[in-house]
Amino acid sequence: MLTFSKIIETTVFLDSERKQGRNIGFVPTMGALHEGHLELMRRAKRENDLLVVSIFVNPIQFNKSEDLEKYPRNLEADKRLLDSVGCDVLFSPGTQEMYPEEVTENYNFGQLETVMEGAHRPGHFNGVAIVVKKLFEIVHPHRAYFGEKDFQQLAIIQKLVEMEKMPVEIVPCPIVREADGLAMSSRNARLTTKERAIAPRIFEILQYAKSKKDSICTGPMKQMVINMFEANEDFRLEYFEITDNKDLQPVTSWGNGEGILGFVALQLGNVRLIDNVRFI
Ligand code: PAJ
Repeated sequence: MLTFSKIIETTVFLDSERKQGRNIGFVPTMGALHEGHLELMRRAKRENDLLVVSIFVNPIQFNKSEDLEKYPRNLEADKRLLDSVGCDVLFSPGTQEMYPEEVTENYNFGQLETVMEGAHRPGHFNGVAIVVKKLFEIVHPHRAYFGEKDFQQLAIIQKLVEMEKMPVEIVPCPIVREADGLAMSSRNARLTTKERAIAPRIFEILQYAKSKKDSICTGPMKQMVINMFEANEDFRLEYFEITDNKDLQPVTSWGNGEGILGFVALQLGNVRLIDNVRFI
């Protein structure tokens, strides 16, 4: 695996690979890699000639400095995992390299950013969009892989690519879970043993809700799920929403079955967790 920390060496190498006709599959990450990340990478490796991964803990997408400081970092362990999936190129820049000057871009993603993560984490998606656009301009991937764990992020990236007319195919990948159902996340490493034992309840509640879909309308369903989360005193619920799968706007009925998901964000101890379930 080649490891680059400078933009210029990355672009020079990848430009020459592209000119030789090689397809580039790209997986952007913030490191602290787990099986969820690795699944994206295995797929990217299968579907392209070259697997490129970036590891960059992007400071401008954190709206709380404490979250940025406590974000788990472990480059050496990450490199071993990258080798195990046959990663060809790792791009792992420093903050100065990515942001030599103050960032000023301001994207407008319309109603997509007014709900859920957009509403609860001001500036978050702008920071994500800025870094992903920059990474795409460095790597010029043919395909880029994103997890449905961060479903709203995926929708934002699809919109960004459409707005900026970027020649890249965005490939959505299913959520990878622990054996007990907890969605894998770098932040899970920060849960205490007790919190880790409680965390699978999130998936259990979402699965229970899904199993009741045919007998409960969306309004009472939302209230039932909220009550179930609030019944557990360890969870501090931020939101539970039932939305369509395109604009992610709240729905008032199951409608004609076009694609409806449930989204949850909550605090468990000091850790913020998100998850989602597809109802239809
Ligand atoms: P990070 O949280 O490291 O996630 C990198 C990619 O892995 C994202 O596309 C995310 O959705 C996916 N992923 C994480 N956990 C997953 C799981 N359990 N199942 C499936 N996919 C999973 O998301 C980011 O980094 C950043 O916002 C980034 C896009 C890199 C921009 O900084």
